[in-house]
Amino acid sequence: MMPSAPVSTTAHPLAADSAVPVMIRSRPEVSGAVEEMPTSGPVVDRFGRIHRDLRMSVTDRCNLRCVSCLPDEDVTFLPREQILSYEELARLARVAHSLGVTSVRVTGGEPLIRRGIVSFVEQLSAIGFEDLSLTTNGTELVRLAPALASAGLHRVNISCDSLRADRFAEIRRRGELGPVLKAMDAAEAAGMLPVKVNVVPIAGVNDDEIEDFAEFARSTGRTVRFIEFMPLDGDGLWRRDLVVPAADVLARIHERWPLVAVRPSGNDASQPAERYRFMDGEGEIGVIATVTRPFCGTCDRLRITADGFLRNCLFSHDELSVREVLRDGGADDEIALMIRKAVWAKLPGHAINDPSYLQPARTMSMIGG
Ligand code: 5AD
Ligand code: SF4
Repeated sequence: MMPSAPVSTTAHPLAADSAVPVMIRSRPEVSGAVEEMPTSGPVVDRFGRIHRDLRMSVTDRCNLRCVSCLPDEDVTFLPREQILSYEELARLARVAHSLGVTSVRVTGGEPLIRRGIVSFVEQLSAIGFEDLSLTTNGTELVRLAPALASAGLHRVNISCDSLRADRFAEIRRRGELGPVLKAMDAAEAAGMLPVKVNVVPIAGVNDDEIEDFAEFARSTGRTVRFIEFMPLDGDGLWRRDLVVPAADVLARIHERWPLVAVRPSGNDASQPAERYRFMDGEGEIGVIATVTRPFCGTCDRLRITADGFLRNCLFSHDELSVREVLRDGGADDEIALMIRKAVWAKLPGHAINDPSYLQPARTMSMIGG
């Protein structure tokens, strides 16, 4: 599956005078000592970044084995008793909401393979988040889309790394393309709009489909988001030369169909995706340039793993367990304090581009994207 001689990704056709504006989001300056952590008001880190987005992984299990994420064989999943119950997760979400978190994304593993997910979404919806979304591989979505929408889910992100059936199957190592395309229809029919389609281009694997995905965005009105391949896979496959830089993706699309940057506004400013629309009409694409243009400076995300650890960054080596607090009868105030502490401990940015970078012990499926 992995190429021995990957396509070169070093060329940067997006020069400074290109018509596609490149958005650089700067790193913050440290401004607070540990003892200065506020215990009221919004959840803030030492760099002044207010955290409003919570990613909740409801399971580390997945029915697929995508090459970017999991090994093909011998995957060990967490024992069930370590996984937070929906009641525990919902309590955490309520506390986060009381601290000013306005947006929740449900992730996995694959969240839709956990039983009872629809009523969990209903519980989250009752809390009243401004934005409630879920990332899925799409395999169970045709069946669940109407119920999820009725439960109050606003939006779904569906992963789809190829539009060619044979290649799609090779990349996922299980599962077929057809049901995932139908899942996109089902999400739209249920009113969860716009559907976002996540693509992880990998050099020599599927990077010849970048234009096809752009065309797909144009013809379907779905937002296609190209996510740079991150060193979070479970197979040790990641190499820098397999990353397709966002600038290359944009340049290639821009050459065929000129793009215009959509300036971020409101909540968008802290979103990882840089958005672009086609100059001549329908459709939108986005790039998530975690590796080549880190956007840590505007990050407002906090994650909870399925086994109850708060992570302040995908690439963090430190986590804080809230599971004991939840299980030992801890008060909401204690949970709130742990959330604040997890965020306060956040570093200014990830160190993927540092030669000393060490991949965290948890891989993508264990953290949730
Ligand atoms: N790098 C970037 N994105 C990844 N995903 C899975 N593994 C990786 C990786 N190593 C994507 C999935 C899904 C989202 C949760 O993260 O394709 O869309
Ligand atoms: Fe499963 Fe998503 Fe990982 Fe693919 S990327 S193996 S669908 S968790």
